[in-house]
Amino acid sequence: MDSILVTGNGPLNGQIPIAGAKNACLTLMPATLLSEEPLTLTNAPRLSDIKTMTLLLQSLGAEVSALQDGKVLAMSSHDLTSHTADYDIVRKMRASNLVLGPMLARLGHAVVSLPGGCAIGARPMDLHIEALEALGAEIELRDGYLHAKAPGGLKGAVHEMRFASVGATENMVMAATLAKGTTVLKNAAREPEIVDLVRCLRAMGAQIAGEGTPTIEIQGVDRLHGATHQVVTDRIELGTYMLAPAICGGEVELLGGRLDLIGAFVEKLDAAGIDVAETDKGLKVSRRNGRVSAVDVTTEPFPGFPTDLQAQMMALLCTAEGTSVLEEKIFENRFMHAPELTRMGARIEVHGGTATVRGVERLKGAPVMATDLRASVSLILAGLAAEGETLVSRVYHLDRGYEHVVQKLEAVGAKIERIKG
Ligand code: UD1
Repeated sequence: MDSILVTGNGPLNGQIPIAGAKNACLTLMPATLLSEEPLTLTNAPRLSDIKTMTLLLQSLGAEVSALQDGKVLAMSSHDLTSHTADYDIVRKMRASNLVLGPMLARLGHAVVSLPGGCAIGARPMDLHIEALEALGAEIELRDGYLHAKAPGGLKGAVHEMRFASVGATENMVMAATLAKGTTVLKNAAREPEIVDLVRCLRAMGAQIAGEGTPTIEIQGVDRLHGATHQVVTDRIELGTYMLAPAICGGEVELLGGRLDLIGAFVEKLDAAGIDVAETDKGLKVSRRNGRVSAVDVTTEPFPGFPTDLQAQMMALLCTAEGTSVLEEKIFENRFMHAPELTRMGARIEVHGGTATVRGVERLKGAPVMATDLRASVSLILAGLAAEGETLVSRVYHLDRGYEHVVQKLEAVGAKIERIKG
């Protein structure tokens, strides 16, 4: 298994290009199942999660070709040959559950294994099931698989979600595009990836209004057609690399960065003493002076502070002046990076969903282990600013969500290398 060796050194300066969003791409790819005509995605990120979704779609009979070094995904679901998403693929990635809604809508039945994914909590599927049942689906759990059918086709309905789940919103919106009549989804998630999915579905001929607000209305149509769609910027990759100059000093421009994707995060950076300015090409980040200040952070659904940036923010706050309190409200068990950061000299106490971080002047390099996708990059960020060497093992987690991480950080002056093993 490969590791990444980071040697703490001075300020970082230069530019980092931000890729298309992993989480948007993982919901846009299953949208191909809704139409017989081709769907092409541009600005796709080059990640192992995208390869996993490619394998899953291919196992259903879809054609998926990665063009232009993987930045363009040309897909066609003209002839689907299977309606079963197998455990062997689904267990690698929870987002595999996003084929459920589209398959049900297009084929009238679907069998999908219960998912795996990051070890950051129970992550059940009840909200997806309730949403699709509201559209008239009948769903049973047998042998670890959800067996879903809609014998008379899906029918539009009014449904209010108990919690604004991102995945359940995406599954229901995709399914409702081909349902008979009107669907109104209340308490829908508002994440930019959902807005991006709706833009793509609209380009395919779907009739949808209200994306980005808590109420999404979908007018079912008989069929969707082909389209080409550009994947939105990855706000989590953006926020992660914004933290690199925040932690190390210097000035880094994030190419393609947009404030509207990341407002709540930028507010916290500002409170910590980090300047963020819009430029022609994106966002420029620098540290105002000296040490950053402690800030309290609570993760929330969009437009709140994203749970997917909590681990990285903690890495910054480990060396802040004062005490920060981080509250994780979206996932239980999402502080697995805390004991690893503690091995680097951080002072962190975790009680349930709350972590109290007492800032120290400097972290010290140590061998640490990546436990999930966002935790792994938080250890790299911490290593960039630590004294000495940090060896991060189990970096396969990182490959799921960050393309060319070594090259991107090297380009702004970081001392970082991948060690094959
Ligand atoms: C998506 C993102 C993930 C991000 C998360 C929250 C993708 C591929 N992944 O995950 O990176 O961290 O949004 O912003 O887009 N829940 C239930 N029942 C359900 C579904 C979810 O209880 O049926 C719970 C989950 O256990 C979790 C919370 O709701 O505690 C949020 O989950 P959800 O918004 O569904 O996240 P995902 O779509 O899985």
